[in-house]
Amino acid sequence: MSDMLNIALPKGRLGEKVYAMFEKAGFECPSIKEQNRKLIFENPEKKVRYFWVKPSDVAIYVERGAADIGVCGKDILLEYNPDIYELLDLGIGKCRMAVAAPKGFRDDTTRTLKVATKFSGIASRHYRSVGRDIDIVHLNGSIEIAPILGLTDVIVDIVETGTTLKENNLEVIETVVPISARLIANKASFRFKGEEIEHIVTSFSSYLASEQN
Ligand code: PRP
Repeated sequence: MSDMLNIALPKGRLGEKVYAMFEKAGFECPSIKEQNRKLIFENPEKKVRYFWVKPSDVAIYVERGAADIGVCGKDILLEYNPDIYELLDLGIGKCRMAVAAPKGFRDDTTRTLKVATKFSGIASRHYRSVGRDIDIVHLNGSIEIAPILGLTDVIVDIVETGTTLKENNLEVIETVVPISARLIANKASFRFKGEEIEHIVTSFSSYLASEQN
């Protein structure tokens, strides 16, 4: 294990907010702000190495130890249940996992409900908990189209502003679970690089507390 702290950041707007939090915690890495297509950035002085990865892949890097820590959505943790420590709710990247359907939809409980989703695990667990029979159609994106074309009755997907649903004449039927970004750590790293990781948790916590006031 290197003595660098390896940090997986979710590529995109959320990742930029997260990097700003690391910077405030004293783990800056100026080269990350250069406009280029590099994916890995190091600051040997601060002993940090950042890399940009697809948001849904952050937990894989952390679980397997390629990253010591990272930030990913609670949706990914619920769906894949990676073997990591969840350290902190960052209160950003807020949205919800919801069931949505075309306006006016009525559930006929005598029939199996057809559900389109990218989150098959979350959807299955949700309907099992209410004892509803479902048939899952696993899709990789543009989930909203499924009920419009009659592929399924409903969708289980992330709703942030609600614009995508509205513009496709769909509406939320129920919220499954609220989602936000979480700071996660590899289990071995948490033991061997505990001091740096604790420092980050403490710094993030006080930053979050000051933001609330
Ligand atoms: C997510 C989600 C919805 C949309 C919701 O899609 O699957 O389509 O965002 O956001 P809104 O409520 O603010 O409209 P994403 O952009 O991640 O793309 P994809 O699921 O199609 O890959």
